[in-house]
Amino acid sequence: MRFDIITVLPEIFKSVFNAGVLKKGIEKGLIEIRVHNLRDYAIDKHRQVDDRPFGGGEGMVLKPEPLFRAVEKIKEKENSRIILLSPQGRKFDYKLAEEFSNFPQIILICGRYEGVDERVREHLITDEISIGDYVLSGGEYAALVIIDAVARFIPGVVGKEESVKKDSFSLGLLDYPQYTRPREFRGWKVPDVLLTGDHKKIEIWRKKKSLEITLRKRPDLLEQKELNEEEKKLLDEIKKEISSEE
Ligand SMILES: C[S@@+](CC[C@H](N)C(=O)[O-])C[C@H]1O[C@@H](n2cnc3c(N)ncnc32)[C@H](O)[C@@H]1O
Repeated sequence: MRFDIITVLPEIFKSVFNAGVLKKGIEKGLIEIRVHNLRDYAIDKHRQVDDRPFGGGEGMVLKPEPLFRAVEKIKEKENSRIILLSPQGRKFDYKLAEEFSNFPQIILICGRYEGVDERVREHLITDEISIGDYVLSGGEYAALVIIDAVARFIPGVVGKEESVKKDSFSLGLLDYPQYTRPREFRGWKVPDVLLTGDHKKIEIWRKKKSLEITLRKRPDLLEQKELNEEEKKLLDEIKKEISSEE
Protein backbone atom coordinates (compact mmCIF):
# COMPACT_ATOMS: atom_id res chain seq x y z
CA MET A 1 0.00 0.00 0.00
CA ARG A 2 1.25 3.45 -0.82
CA PHE A 3 0.84 6.67 1.17
CA ASP A 4 1.63 10.01 -0.49
CA ILE A 5 1.87 13.07 1.72
CA ILE A 6 1.57 16.52 0.15
CA THR A 7 3.01 19.20 2.42
CA VAL A 8 4.74 22.58 2.52
CA LEU A 9 6.91 21.31 5.37
CA PRO A 10 8.45 18.00 4.19
CA GLU A 11 11.19 18.32 6.84
CA ILE A 12 8.62 17.36 9.51
CA PHE A 13 8.76 13.79 8.18
CA LYS A 14 12.56 13.51 8.03
CA SER A 15 13.06 10.91 10.74
CA VAL A 16 9.58 9.87 11.72
CA PHE A 17 9.44 6.79 9.49
CA ASN A 18 12.89 5.58 10.57
CA ALA A 19 11.72 3.77 13.67
CA GLY A 20 9.10 1.39 14.94
CA VAL A 21 6.29 -0.41 13.18
CA LEU A 22 6.19 1.89 10.13
CA LYS A 23 9.91 1.40 9.50
CA LYS A 24 9.41 -2.38 9.62
CA GLY A 25 6.43 -2.15 7.25
CA ILE A 26 8.55 -0.15 4.79
CA GLU A 27 11.48 -2.57 5.06
CA LYS A 28 9.21 -5.55 4.43
CA GLY A 29 7.85 -3.81 1.31
CA LEU A 30 4.31 -3.81 2.72
CA ILE A 31 3.96 -0.05 2.73
CA GLU A 32 5.60 2.76 0.84
CA ILE A 33 5.50 6.35 2.09
CA ARG A 34 6.40 9.26 -0.18
CA VAL A 35 6.61 12.86 0.94
CA HIS A 36 6.02 15.54 -1.70
CA ASN A 37 6.97 19.17 -1.33
CA LEU A 38 3.99 21.20 -2.52
CA ARG A 39 6.39 23.90 -3.75
CA ASP A 40 7.62 21.49 -6.43
CA TYR A 41 4.16 21.78 -8.00
CA ALA A 42 3.93 25.58 -7.90
CA ILE A 43 3.23 27.26 -11.22
CA ASP A 44 5.49 30.32 -10.90
CA LYS A 45 9.21 30.76 -10.55
CA HIS A 46 8.90 31.93 -6.92
CA ARG A 47 7.31 28.58 -6.09
CA GLN A 48 4.42 30.31 -4.40
CA VAL A 49 1.85 27.96 -2.92
CA ASP A 50 -0.21 30.31 -0.77
CA ASP A 51 -1.92 33.65 -1.13
CA ARG A 52 -4.12 36.11 0.77
CA PRO A 53 -7.83 35.28 1.13
CA PHE A 54 -10.30 36.99 -1.18
CA GLY A 55 -12.63 39.18 0.87
CA GLY A 56 -9.85 40.05 3.31
CA GLY A 57 -9.03 38.63 6.69
CA GLU A 58 -6.11 37.13 8.52
CA GLY A 59 -3.52 34.69 7.26
CA MET A 60 -2.83 32.85 4.04
CA VAL A 61 -4.65 30.14 2.09
CA LEU A 62 -3.09 27.30 0.07
CA LYS A 63 -3.67 27.97 -3.63
CA PRO A 64 -5.59 25.45 -5.74
CA GLU A 65 -3.26 25.09 -8.77
CA PRO A 66 -0.27 23.46 -6.97
CA LEU A 67 -2.57 21.07 -5.09
CA PHE A 68 -4.44 19.97 -8.22
CA ARG A 69 -1.15 19.56 -10.11
CA ALA A 70 0.37 17.52 -7.28
CA VAL A 71 -2.58 15.17 -6.92
CA GLU A 72 -2.98 14.72 -10.68
CA LYS A 73 0.70 13.77 -10.95
CA ILE A 74 0.83 11.53 -7.88
CA LYS A 75 -2.48 9.66 -8.26
CA GLU A 76 -1.84 6.19 -9.63
CA LYS A 77 -5.11 4.30 -9.31
CA GLU A 78 -8.69 4.96 -10.21
CA ASN A 79 -9.73 4.10 -6.67
CA SER A 80 -7.00 6.06 -4.83
CA ARG A 81 -8.34 7.96 -1.82
CA ILE A 82 -7.50 11.64 -1.72
CA ILE A 83 -7.81 12.86 1.83
CA LEU A 84 -7.86 16.47 2.93
CA LEU A 85 -6.86 16.78 6.59
CA SER A 86 -9.22 19.29 8.13
CA PRO A 87 -10.80 20.05 11.52
CA GLN A 88 -14.13 20.22 9.68
CA GLY A 89 -13.93 16.67 8.33
CA ARG A 90 -15.48 13.33 9.28
CA LYS A 91 -14.03 12.16 12.58
CA PHE A 92 -11.32 9.52 12.07
CA ASP A 93 -11.85 6.27 13.97
CA TYR A 94 -11.00 2.57 14.07
CA LYS A 95 -13.55 1.59 11.41
CA LEU A 96 -12.34 4.24 8.99
CA ALA A 97 -8.72 3.16 9.52
CA GLU A 98 -9.67 -0.41 8.62
CA GLU A 99 -11.66 0.76 5.58
CA PHE A 100 -8.77 2.89 4.26
CA SER A 101 -6.37 -0.06 4.59
CA ASN A 102 -8.21 -1.74 1.68
CA PHE A 103 -7.15 0.90 -0.85
CA PRO A 104 -3.93 0.70 -2.87
CA GLN A 105 -3.03 4.37 -2.49
CA ILE A 106 -3.88 7.10 -0.02
CA ILE A 107 -2.94 10.69 -0.81
CA LEU A 108 -2.92 12.99 2.21
CA ILE A 109 -3.17 16.74 1.67
CA CYS A 110 -1.78 18.66 4.64
CA GLY A 111 -3.34 22.08 5.06
CA ARG A 112 -1.47 24.97 6.69
CA TYR A 113 -2.19 28.59 7.67
CA GLU A 114 -5.94 29.31 7.25
CA GLY A 115 -6.45 26.12 5.25
CA VAL A 116 -6.92 25.38 1.54
CA ASP A 117 -8.86 27.04 -1.28
CA GLU A 118 -12.45 25.77 -1.14
CA ARG A 119 -12.25 24.41 -4.73
CA VAL A 120 -9.86 21.74 -3.45
CA ARG A 121 -12.51 20.54 -1.02
CA GLU A 122 -15.24 20.69 -3.66
CA HIS A 123 -13.53 19.22 -6.71
CA LEU A 124 -10.33 17.34 -5.82
CA ILE A 125 -10.69 15.19 -2.74
CA THR A 126 -12.57 12.00 -1.96
CA ASP A 127 -12.58 12.46 1.84
CA GLU A 128 -12.25 15.27 4.36
CA ILE A 129 -10.95 13.86 7.63
CA SER A 130 -10.47 15.30 11.11
CA ILE A 131 -8.56 13.59 13.90
CA GLY A 132 -10.51 15.39 16.63
CA ASP A 133 -12.27 18.54 17.73
CA TYR A 134 -9.26 20.80 18.11
CA VAL A 135 -7.19 22.85 15.67
CA LEU A 136 -3.66 21.82 14.75
CA SER A 137 -1.22 24.18 13.10
CA GLY A 138 -0.91 21.81 10.14
CA GLY A 139 -2.29 18.63 8.63
CA GLU A 140 1.10 16.89 8.90
CA TYR A 141 0.42 15.65 12.45
CA ALA A 142 -2.99 14.35 11.43
CA ALA A 143 -1.45 12.59 8.40
CA LEU A 144 0.95 10.76 10.70
CA VAL A 145 -1.87 9.60 12.95
CA ILE A 146 -3.82 8.28 9.97
CA ILE A 147 -0.85 6.52 8.36
CA ASP A 148 0.06 4.74 11.60
CA ALA A 149 -3.50 3.63 12.35
CA VAL A 150 -4.17 2.47 8.76
CA ALA A 151 -0.84 0.65 8.40
CA ARG A 152 -1.62 -1.49 11.48
CA PHE A 153 -4.39 -3.15 9.46
CA ILE A 154 -2.10 -4.22 6.64
CA PRO A 155 -1.23 -7.87 7.28
CA GLY A 156 2.40 -8.25 8.35
CA VAL A 157 3.03 -4.62 9.36
CA VAL A 158 2.45 -5.37 13.05
CA GLY A 159 4.62 -8.36 13.94
CA LYS A 160 1.92 -10.15 15.91
CA GLU A 161 -1.27 -9.85 13.87
CA GLU A 162 -3.27 -11.41 16.70
CA SER A 163 -2.55 -8.38 18.87
CA VAL A 164 -4.23 -6.05 16.34
CA LYS A 165 -7.37 -8.21 16.51
CA LYS A 166 -7.38 -7.86 20.31
CA ASP A 167 -6.67 -4.12 20.44
CA SER A 168 -9.20 -1.68 21.87
CA PHE A 169 -12.22 -1.19 19.54
CA SER A 170 -11.50 -4.28 17.40
CA LEU A 171 -14.20 -6.32 19.13
CA GLY A 172 -16.27 -3.28 20.01
CA LEU A 173 -14.69 -3.15 23.47
CA LEU A 174 -11.68 -1.51 25.12
CA ASP A 175 -8.65 -3.70 25.81
CA TYR A 176 -8.17 -5.50 29.15
CA PRO A 177 -5.36 -4.41 31.53
CA GLN A 178 -1.86 -5.78 30.98
CA TYR A 179 0.79 -6.57 33.60
CA THR A 180 4.40 -7.62 33.37
CA ARG A 181 7.22 -8.44 35.81
CA PRO A 182 7.69 -7.84 38.71
CA ARG A 183 4.81 -9.73 40.32
CA GLU A 184 4.77 -7.14 43.08
CA PHE A 185 5.80 -3.49 42.72
CA ARG A 186 5.72 -1.10 45.71
CA GLY A 187 3.22 -3.42 47.33
CA TRP A 188 0.89 -3.50 44.28
CA LYS A 189 0.36 -7.08 43.15
CA VAL A 190 -0.47 -8.55 39.77
CA PRO A 191 -3.96 -10.17 39.93
CA ASP A 192 -3.59 -13.81 41.11
CA VAL A 193 -5.54 -15.25 38.19
CA LEU A 194 -2.85 -14.13 35.70
CA LEU A 195 -0.28 -16.25 37.56
CA THR A 196 -2.34 -19.45 37.62
CA GLY A 197 -1.48 -20.63 34.10
CA ASP A 198 -5.17 -21.57 33.72
CA HIS A 199 -5.86 -20.23 30.21
CA LYS A 200 -9.63 -20.63 30.38
CA LYS A 201 -9.84 -18.67 33.66
CA ILE A 202 -7.50 -16.00 32.31
CA GLU A 203 -9.58 -15.65 29.16
CA ILE A 204 -12.78 -15.15 31.19
CA TRP A 205 -11.05 -12.66 33.52
CA ARG A 206 -9.79 -10.68 30.55
CA LYS A 207 -13.19 -10.64 28.86
CA LYS A 208 -14.81 -9.47 32.10
CA LYS A 209 -12.20 -6.72 32.56
CA SER A 210 -12.66 -5.62 28.97
CA LEU A 211 -16.40 -5.32 29.54
CA GLU A 212 -15.92 -3.54 32.87
CA ILE A 213 -13.42 -1.00 31.48
CA THR A 214 -15.67 -0.31 28.50
CA LEU A 215 -18.69 0.14 30.78
CA ARG A 216 -16.80 2.55 33.02
CA LYS A 217 -14.92 4.54 30.36
CA ARG A 218 -16.93 4.24 27.13
CA PRO A 219 -20.49 3.04 27.79
CA ASP A 220 -21.44 4.32 24.31
CA LEU A 221 -19.41 1.46 22.78
CA LEU A 222 -21.42 -1.11 24.71
CA GLU A 223 -24.66 0.35 23.41
CA GLN A 224 -23.50 -0.38 19.85
CA LYS A 225 -22.22 -3.89 20.52
CA GLU A 226 -24.22 -7.10 20.24
CA LEU A 227 -23.25 -9.15 23.27
CA ASN A 228 -23.27 -12.95 23.31
CA GLU A 229 -24.81 -14.90 26.22
CA GLU A 230 -21.52 -15.19 28.10
CA GLU A 231 -20.83 -11.47 27.75
CA LYS A 232 -24.34 -10.60 28.91
CA LYS A 233 -23.86 -12.76 32.00
CA LEU A 234 -20.49 -11.18 32.75
CA LEU A 235 -21.89 -7.68 32.26
CA ASP A 236 -24.73 -8.42 34.73
CA GLU A 237 -22.14 -9.56 37.28
CA ILE A 238 -20.10 -6.39 36.72
CA LYS A 239 -23.14 -4.14 37.13
CA LYS A 240 -24.03 -5.88 40.41
CA GLU A 241 -20.43 -5.51 41.63
CA ILE A 242 -20.39 -1.82 40.72
CA SER A 243 -23.71 -1.11 42.46
CA SER A 244 -22.50 -2.89 45.61
CA GLU A 245 -19.39 -0.61 45.57
CA GLU A 246 -21.63 2.50 45.67
C1 LIG B 1 -4.66 26.19 11.51
S1 LIG B 1 -5.48 24.92 10.65
C2 LIG B 1 -6.73 25.79 9.74
C3 LIG B 1 -8.01 25.82 10.46
C4 LIG B 1 -9.14 26.48 9.68
N1 LIG B 1 -9.00 27.90 9.64
C5 LIG B 1 -10.46 26.13 10.37
O1 LIG B 1 -10.77 26.74 11.39
O2 LIG B 1 -11.16 25.19 9.91
C6 LIG B 1 -4.32 24.47 9.43
C7 LIG B 1 -4.44 23.06 8.90
O3 LIG B 1 -4.20 22.12 9.93
C8 LIG B 1 -4.90 20.91 9.65
N2 LIG B 1 -5.73 20.58 10.81
C9 LIG B 1 -6.01 21.37 11.86
N3 LIG B 1 -6.77 20.75 12.76
C10 LIG B 1 -7.00 19.50 12.28
C11 LIG B 1 -7.73 18.39 12.76
N4 LIG B 1 -8.40 18.43 13.92
N5 LIG B 1 -7.74 17.26 12.01
C12 LIG B 1 -7.08 17.21 10.82
N6 LIG B 1 -6.36 18.25 10.32
C13 LIG B 1 -6.32 19.38 11.04
C14 LIG B 1 -5.72 21.16 8.40
O4 LIG B 1 -5.03 20.60 7.29
C15 LIG B 1 -5.77 22.67 8.33
O5 LIG B 1 -5.94 23.14 7.01
